[in-house]
Amino acid sequence: MKFELQHTDTLTSARAGVLTTDHGPIETPVFMPVGTVGSVKAVHPWELKEDIKAQIILGNTYHLYLRPGIEILGKAGGLHKFNSFNGPILTDSGGFQVFSLTGIRKLREEGCEFRSHIDGSKHIFTPEKVMDIERAIGADIMMAFDECPPGTSDYAYAKKSLGLTHRWLDRCIRRFNETEPRYGYQQSLFPIVQGCTYKDLRIQSAEFVASKEADGNAIGGLAVGEPAEVMYEMIEIVNGILPKDKPRYLMGVGTPVNILEGIERGVDMFDCVMPTRNGRNAMLFTQNGIMNLRNKKWEDDFSPLDPDGTSYVDKAYSKAYLHHLFKAQELLALQIASIHNLAFYLWLTREARRHIITGDFASWKASMVKRVAARL
Ligand code: GUN
Repeated sequence: MKFELQHTDTLTSARAGVLTTDHGPIETPVFMPVGTVGSVKAVHPWELKEDIKAQIILGNTYHLYLRPGIEILGKAGGLHKFNSFNGPILTDSGGFQVFSLTGIRKLREEGCEFRSHIDGSKHIFTPEKVMDIERAIGADIMMAFDECPPGTSDYAYAKKSLGLTHRWLDRCIRRFNETEPRYGYQQSLFPIVQGCTYKDLRIQSAEFVASKEADGNAIGGLAVGEPAEVMYEMIEIVNGILPKDKPRYLMGVGTPVNILEGIERGVDMFDCVMPTRNGRNAMLFTQNGIMNLRNKKWEDDFSPLDPDGTSYVDKAYSKAYLHHLFKAQELLALQIASIHNLAFYLWLTREARRHIITGDFASWKASMVKRVAARL
């Protein structure tokens, strides 16, 4: 996997680059739609690729391991063949999902024991097992198995957890190096920086992760309840240490403003359930602010859903029609809202890239931050 920086902003730390995978190039900064169980909820791969130009999507090791399971994925020839998304795919390691299962998990040096949210069956994830599963899924980018501690963790817990995440990283790297890709294309392993909101732990973790010289690096454990300013400070500290010539992925973030702030601080890759999850809840993001399509004010607004939108749904349907679909609990509402929101997030990162290259990112970003958070 190759990463080429094409342009670095002079006023900020923003960068424009290209990450090349065996399933095609990814122009960064990039937003990656989340397809937890191998499907981006309510959106076809055709719409992702052809209409809204998604360059890469996410899958989740925890969910795919439980269902359909790695035997089926292996028989299918990997997730790309199974779900017909022929672009690059990244899999999260399950580190985040397993640790959300408080009460039904046990954490040990060896790994994490948990019960399935589907049928209550018992399983264990170790770093070695997670690498084997991610090999079987066939993701172009495999995330290391980490512990994502709660946002409220005290220093002692955060420090202990970080030690475990680092030991697990070494085990992930060992297993990754001992195993081969199964489907004839390259896979890369990205380590994850943790350390909660403690500066010294973030520094220690970023230095540890940087020393592994991986193809790319991720920042985890953020957007878990800390104030946005604290998250931005942690990103700055970590990005000051992570190698400049490798892509940096901020996991699970965030709002359009969070993404712009992340790009300004040198983040290249983002994922978040917000555009799809909030979309299914009638919240639509636009360049001019946020609309709640359940609001009665849209009942007789026959103007296009989003005149500036880049998806076909933005001009094909009116606000009044989408309001009606939500009120009537029609499934089409979920599809239209998800496609619209993903198109907006993808436009936002593409546009950021364009402005980094043309050299006016800082002023564009400042004006965008003011606009996108308004309530319409
Ligand atoms: N998704 C959002 N945050 C995290 C994190 O800290 N670790 C992992 N594995 N996934 C995430």
